[in-house]
Amino acid sequence: MTEKILTARFEKPDSYRLSSYVEDGGYEALKKALSKTPDEIIDIVKAAGLRGRGGAGFPAGVKWSFVPKESEKPKYLCVNGDEGEPGTFKDRYIMELDPHAIIEGAAIASYAFGAHVAYIYIRGEFKLPIERVENALAEARQAGFLGANILDSGYDLDIWVHPGAGAYVCGEETALIESNEGHRGMPRIKPPFPAIVGLFGGPTVVNNIETLSYVPHIINKGPEWFAAMGPEKNGGTKLFGVSGHVKRPGLYELRMGTPLRKIIYEVCGGMRGDKELKAVIPGGSSTPILTPGEIDVNMDYDSLAKIGTMFGSGAIIVIEEGTCIPRLAARLAKFYAHESCGQCTPCREGVPWIAKILDRVENGMGLPGDLDQVLKICDNIQGKTICPLGDACAMPIRAMIVKFRAEFERHVEEGGCPFGPTPTPWDSES
Ligand SMILES: Cc1cc2nc3c(=O)[nH]c(=O)nc-3n(C[C@H](O)[C@H](O)[C@H](O)COP(=O)(O)O)c2cc1C
Repeated sequence: MTEKILTARFEKPDSYRLSSYVEDGGYEALKKALSKTPDEIIDIVKAAGLRGRGGAGFPAGVKWSFVPKESEKPKYLCVNGDEGEPGTFKDRYIMELDPHAIIEGAAIASYAFGAHVAYIYIRGEFKLPIERVENALAEARQAGFLGANILDSGYDLDIWVHPGAGAYVCGEETALIESNEGHRGMPRIKPPFPAIVGLFGGPTVVNNIETLSYVPHIINKGPEWFAAMGPEKNGGTKLFGVSGHVKRPGLYELRMGTPLRKIIYEVCGGMRGDKELKAVIPGGSSTPILTPGEIDVNMDYDSLAKIGTMFGSGAIIVIEEGTCIPRLAARLAKFYAHESCGQCTPCREGVPWIAKILDRVENGMGLPGDLDQVLKICDNIQGKTICPLGDACAMPIRAMIVKFRAEFERHVEEGGCPFGPTPTPWDSES
């Protein structure tokens, strides 16, 4: 059940150094890739069924194929290391412990669609990941895996780190591009999509750190090997970051399609203190919450979509009985209100309204009609903004109210929280 592809090298001493990476066969995939045509690489990645691990699950090879072959402007790869989705803690480990896997994957991707410059955009607070990736880039340049005429192939590529300043919205691909250009991170209207007009106006691919780290393995071991590891169209393994009220929270690499129940009760050892399960957020805070009756679902993009939620970033947040869902909802809405870039009225105004109303509900000052009002605001946000940050608040809040409505109503009717001051998984005391 547990498979080690991306995490295989994590526990080795100096795993982040070039010498260790090369000892384990590192940069062999780049050599192989440079001996093939770019189209061959795209076909291999398409056949592997590698879907983007940043949240949306878009097939990586297909995304690369959208980049026009001929372009007057330079093409770019932006590697998304913003890792802002609450509950998510996977990319930072790859950056810290195996940065050369990212660089090799980024180099193969850049070659496949014709970029000669790539940026790794890393959340500013990630001091160690930034340092490790910077050092790895210097080592790769020195060894001739980056720079001019890589491995005598005639292909040139350089890669730079661009530290962000810690804004959740900068993880959204077009806001990331704006921020990478030195502007305030505000999402752009699509179309045009980044594959046509992206960084500095050139065709651009934005890919997540985890997505690109699989690429060298796919080149080395073949697309069939990768595709066979998961259900149809959901190839490979996935890094699941499990947090909240389980006995053994942590980062687990598991096959795509591993049942959620198995992850909670076997991989993570079950609920802490053997309490009852109350709810699960399956893929990061933006993904609609599941009840205990819904955990017999396979953790892959299509299975989760079928039951009305999302795979997201694979950040599973487990919530035990006794946790106040309205409190959790209010805390979540406060985060999104803080992170709204303010560009679109429904998100700028609506998300803080939701946060204020939920705060008063949780604190016993809710009014009759408040819950329907929140649901109405959610409807007026979702799908009506430039980027999905508003949706990322509206969707989980709606699901919490719909699935746990009686609990919200008790807060209004009883004028207070029936649970007392219970911490949510996001409170430091839990
Ligand atoms: C508000 C918001 C925040 C996002 N944050 C991240 C992030 O931190 N990291 C990430 O890889 N993708 C994030 N995404 C998804 C990106 O827009 C994009 O889909 C992804 O980087 C593409 O890479 P992939 O195809 O390899 O998954 C975010 C999206 C939204 C709407």
